[in-house]
Formats: sequence, C-alpha cells, structure tokens
Amino acid sequence: LREHEEFTKVKNIATIELGRYEIETWYFSPFPPEYNDCLKLYFCEFCLNFMKRKEQLQRHMRKCDLKHPPGDEIYRSGTLSMFEVDGKKNKVYGQNLCYLAKLFLDHKTLYYDVDLFLFYVLCECDDRGCHMVGYFSKEKHSEESYNLACILTLPPYQRKGYGKFLIAFSYELSKKEGKVGTPERPLSDLGLLSYRGYWTRVLLDILKKHKGNISIKFVSDITIPLAAMHLFNQLLELSDMTAIKAEDILTTLQSLELIQYRKGQHVICADPKVLDRHLKAAGRGGLEVDVSKLIWTPYK
Ligand code: ACO
Ligand code: ZN
Repeated sequence: LREHEEFTKVKNIATIELGRYEIETWYFSPFPPEYNDCLKLYFCEFCLNFMKRKEQLQRHMRKCDLKHPPGDEIYRSGTLSMFEVDGKKNKVYGQNLCYLAKLFLDHKTLYYDVDLFLFYVLCECDDRGCHMVGYFSKEKHSEESYNLACILTLPPYQRKGYGKFLIAFSYELSKKEGKVGTPERPLSDLGLLSYRGYWTRVLLDILKKHKGNISIKFVSDITIPLAAMHLFNQLLELSDMTAIKAEDILTTLQSLELIQYRKGQHVICADPKVLDRHLKAAGRGGLEVDVSKLIWTPYK
C-alpha cells in the first residue's frame, strides 16, 4: 500500500490549458481520482473548473458567464486588478485554485479547509476579461502572525515583477490591519529568493531615506542586554514602518552584513556608500502597489 501511495504521488497531469496558455506543470497535485488517467487538463480561466477534453471546455466557455474571479475587486490600477475571494463563500473556486496551485508548489500540503482562507487573485484585464496572473492565500485568523500562506505566479508570467507585487500587497494588507506579518514556512527556493529581494529593497530604501536615524522608542517590558537595546529598538521601529516581522528584518540585515558592533553597541550600519552598493545589487524594484488604489477593510 505504501509503495502504491508513493507511486501515486508522481506527477500526474503534465500540462494544463488555461486561457491562451498551455503550461507545463511542475509537481503532483491531488486531483480527484477520476482525473488520474489524464495527461492534460483544460481549465476555464475564470471559474477555474477543469475538464478532461477540449470540447468540454469549449462547451463550458459558451455558458460560463464569469469574466473575472468571483468576490470583490479591492484594487485596480491601470490594467491590474486584485480580487478578494472568500473560500467559504466560493468553496469550489477556492478548491479549484488549490488544485491548480499545487501543480507548481512542491512542499505545501493543500488539504486544508478553504473555508478558513481568503484568496487574493491578481489579474491582467482587457476587453475579454480579467486573466489570472497569480495569487496568494491568507488565513482569516492566524495565530502565528502569518500574512500569507501560499503564493504563486503562473509560469508564463514569472520573472516580470508580479511575485514582488503580490508580496508587497500582502504587507499593505498587514499595515491596514495594524499588524506585522510573515509568510508561512517553509518557503520554496523561489519563494525565499523573492522574499529576500523584497525585504532587502524595502529596508535599504528606508535606511537610505532616514540615513540610519531610526528614532528610538522606549521598550520597558522586556529585559535585553544593554548592548542589544539600540538594535532591538531599531528593529521594532523598522517593523512598525514596514509590517515586516522583526526576525525577518534581522536575518535580512545580517545577510547583508549591515549589523555591526560599535562602541559596545550592536547597530545597523547606514553608510550611504554601503547602502548604494547593496541597492545596485538588489536589482529591479518590481511592480509598485499604489496604496491609494486599495479599497479594503480587514476581515472580521
Ligand atoms: N531564478 C532566479 N531567481 C528568481 C527566479 C528564477 N527562476 N524567479 C524569481 N527569482 C528571484 C529574483 O531575485 C527575482 O527578482 P529579479 O527579477 O528582480 O531578479 C525575484 O525572485 C522575484 O521575481 P518576481 O518576478 O517578482 O517573482 P515571480 O513573479 O517570478 O514570482 C514566485 C515568484 C511567486 C516565488 C514564483 O517563482 C512561483 O510562483 N514559484 C512557484 C511557487 C512557489 O515556489 N511559491 C512560493 C512558495 S513559499 C510560500 O508559498 C509561502
Ligand atoms: Zn468557467
């Protein structure tokens, strides 16, 4: 039985058709058993229902009246729109999205209840409708302060800055909630690269702007060694400004070797020359989230 189980985990669906793209899949995804013998699946790009045959999809497209993801459009800037989909109100859509996403996510188990999640689906819109580019999911209530569970940019859209846009968006939601957040672990290699890139750029920009003069807030209820006090406060201040969890700020600054020990104190180095050098290496900034175009209130 075990062997059989292992065997069934081998990648099943090799390609999918989605909108105008044919996409090669990366990993196994637990589609219902009746799809086990399929090498290719045909997705409706709007409701994400999937079918075994092209003719079924064509028939479906004639009667499917969705032209965008279900749920609320919470952001629109130019041709980019973001839709918020409640997994409880749109269960089938949420499940379809999870099946689709698992084809590109290795380490995630997606057997959880879609009821507990919100899905933020990013679309490029034209006169034919809103075409999904990627998405991230977010627990409605996270005890571990996760602000993102899974993130995906569909392969035809990767390496164009959409991933960083999705990450930035997740932090903008956290800012509106007045919380700090962090992505659910483990991160994939590509996930880690994208987050590292985002954290690095955001932090370098702030350090440059403030020339390292991050104001010091007094923290009275925690005992920490005096030599770390200044750094600790700086991290909290940066965390407040960015909604990035202090641990993630610390690891990012450490990997950039920006934490230094001077005159008996651990401090963040903000030498403009050093910052500029790192900024150059950090590459493109990606697509910006225009916060003035975000119309959203936190889930209650
Ligand atoms: N090779 C090297 N570096 C890469 C690659 C790659 N193939 N892809 C992304 N990166 C790095 C680069 O540093 C890039 O920045 P740059 O282009 O300025 O150099 C940065 O990541 C982000 O690039 P974006 O274009 O903003 O991101 P993209 O739209 O490609 O999406 C994502 C990134 C979501 C991780 C995508 O690769 C993906 O969907 N992967 C499959 C699913 C996955 O692994 N998701 C993360 C799992 S972890 C989690 O869900 C909590
Ligand atoms: Zn449909």
